[in-house]
Amino acid sequence: MAKIGMFGAGYVGLVTGACFADLGHEVVIRDILPERIEMLRRGEVPIYEPGLDAVLERNHDRLRFTLDVAEAVDGAEFLYVAVGTPPTESGDADLTAVWAVVDELPLDIPGRPVVVMKSTVPVGTGSHVRARLDARGLSNVGYVSNPEFLAEGTAVTDFTTPDRIVIGAFDAEDGDRVVELHEGIDGEVLCTDVHSAELVKLAANAFLSTRISFINEIANVCELVGADVVDVARGVGLDHRLGPHFLRAGIGFGGSCFPKDVSALKQLAGNEGYPFMLLHAVWEVNELQKRRVVQKLQKHLGSLRGRRIALLGLAFKPNTDDMREAPSRVIAYRLIAEGAEVAAWDPVARPTDLAGVDICDSVLETVRGVDAAVIVTEWPELASFASSEIRDAMANPLVVDGRNLLDPEKTQAAGFTYEGIGRPRHASPVQPPEPVA
Ligand SMILES: NC(=O)c1ccc[n+]([C@@H]2O[C@H](COP(=O)([O-])OP(=O)(O)OC[C@H]3O[C@@H](n4cnc5c(N)ncnc54)[C@H](O)[C@@H]3O)[C@@H](O)[C@H]2O)c1
Repeated sequence: MAKIGMFGAGYVGLVTGACFADLGHEVVIRDILPERIEMLRRGEVPIYEPGLDAVLERNHDRLRFTLDVAEAVDGAEFLYVAVGTPPTESGDADLTAVWAVVDELPLDIPGRPVVVMKSTVPVGTGSHVRARLDARGLSNVGYVSNPEFLAEGTAVTDFTTPDRIVIGAFDAEDGDRVVELHEGIDGEVLCTDVHSAELVKLAANAFLSTRISFINEIANVCELVGADVVDVARGVGLDHRLGPHFLRAGIGFGGSCFPKDVSALKQLAGNEGYPFMLLHAVWEVNELQKRRVVQKLQKHLGSLRGRRIALLGLAFKPNTDDMREAPSRVIAYRLIAEGAEVAAWDPVARPTDLAGVDICDSVLETVRGVDAAVIVTEWPELASFASSEIRDAMANPLVVDGRNLLDPEKTQAAGFTYEGIGRPRHASPVQPPEPVA
């Protein structure tokens, strides 16, 4: 069994570290946030990720948490980098945290530990890190790119049953050691060079984002020509060459990965002089898709000034508390800019930075007296939204189903005005708005 130093105790570092411990390895997880490390030492989990608490709990003998670099490096055969790489003002990836880890490594590390890059980084980063390690006299330290494909909400099972494990190495022996470390995990292994491994990650996220923007554009066409995108997507996805995944129309993608990785790949290509036109379109479609919610509300309500709107679901997707780049942020601030009051609910996310948004504790409290409700995140709790209790609580029973979660006919039969995404055949006729008092 190996000793692993894990840099970063976020969604990737914590899940990966805990799951490696579950395979029997000894893992020391290092972060720079004292409150995060203290929570973990107390047995508390600082993020919401289903199943993670149980993995941490049953492996606490093999897991340590520290603020100290030396403790994470001491005796480690693998030094995993799982720090954040958010976008900079220019849309490129911000590698400040990655460089901090590389530069924090002590100069006297014995043996041949391997730095393993889990963070999503631009192509070429591995070569730059290799050069920096060499320049610091750490030529004995290996480097392997091992991009992460887990999805928040299913991160633990994604680790144990991955579609693939991608390993890009400068030195084949270093790559083989990282392959061996994954023994016990059933997933296809792709061994390649560092540049290709780096690009697999960016290309995969860009392609998933492209599918989402594609089906959202199809939904927008459906609204013009009277087709139902749910049936269209099903018919398209039944083609074995295409498959059904990521063909669900809605109000656009968000989260800590897709937006930044689309941007990072677009900028990476641009920096090399290549305009990646398709990704420009993917990005623009996604920005407009979030704003279409406001137009749908205006179609039914006219001016939104003085209207109260409920946003149901705030996290960028269900089963996570992650609010990074969540579409709810854009929708909330567009509504406030239009003069609306915004009430919001999420079963897990409790954002403290949504100024002007009234965060409520239950769906019922959120919809009380509102002129419309918007389903922003398809939390399972919202599947039973179309009840008489909810309808009676709303001042006006208009629901904009931003994730096509509800059954349009049943929702209308329950007395709601229904507006989905790309489902014109089910849309309720627009009622003339009541004058605002
Ligand atoms: N979240 C995902 O679903 C996901 C999936 C695949 C890949 N990724 C990639 O993995 C990387 C990490 O993402 P995340 O969502 O876990 O980020 P995160 O923000 O949740 O966690 C990053 C952690 O790194 C810590 N950190 C910063 N500097 C450090 C340092 N010098 N030493 C140790 N720790 C330090 C931060 O305090 C934070 O706790 C990113 O590059 C991301 O693009 C994320």
